[in-house]
Amino acid sequence: MNAIENILKRNSPRELVAPHPTEEEMNLVFNCALRAPDHAWLRPSRFIQVTGDGLVKLSEIFQDFARENINDLTDITLEKYKNAPFRAPMVIIVISNIRIHPKVPEVEQLLSTSAATQNILLALHALGYGGIWRTGKFALNEIILKYLGLDQNQRVLGYLYVGKASGRQKKLPKLDISQFVKKWS
Ligand SMILES: Cc1cc2nc3c(=O)[nH]c(=O)nc-3n(C[C@H](O)[C@H](O)[C@H](O)COP(=O)(O)O)c2cc1C
Repeated sequence: MNAIENILKRNSPRELVAPHPTEEEMNLVFNCALRAPDHAWLRPSRFIQVTGDGLVKLSEIFQDFARENINDLTDITLEKYKNAPFRAPMVIIVISNIRIHPKVPEVEQLLSTSAATQNILLALHALGYGGIWRTGKFALNEIILKYLGLDQNQRVLGYLYVGKASGRQKKLPKLDISQFVKKWS
């Protein structure tokens, strides 16, 4: 698939099933992630690749976090969080490791990891896999850090659910670029 076609066709599939990418494929994917733009080459992006028993561990972390931090938690919601990691054969936890730097504020480091995340989604698509970026209750807050064994200078930008796309293919919308783009010439 050529690069432009890969970008235009990337989408978040309705359903993700086994198999997940091989170790060799994930080496490529993470190398693509680390080619994201990165002011001063601070290398802020970190990833935790979760498969197999790791998904059980993540499920337990989600349940512990929910029990201890979500008010009025119902059994139905807890069950939903318990099952959440098993919606795909692999989950990648996306983290930005923030460093104090005179020229590179936190937001630039978060943006770099965000660009790395899109590189992951595009690389997965090019290799014939699907990915879905999700946040929800377990991302973008500082309380989750200790549950995941992370440091206070780190930020969880989300969870990428990864596998083979399954189910009916989404119809991708055709957007009118003139509504989004102004041209100064
Ligand atoms: C930072 C970020 C967080 C997201 N969080 C969620 C989420 O928690 N749940 C969800 O269903 N979609 C979430 N999405 C949206 C999906 O990843 C996806 O982009 C969206 O459903 C549109 O589908 P498409 O990628 O096929 O265009 C998030 C997207 C971004 C960029």
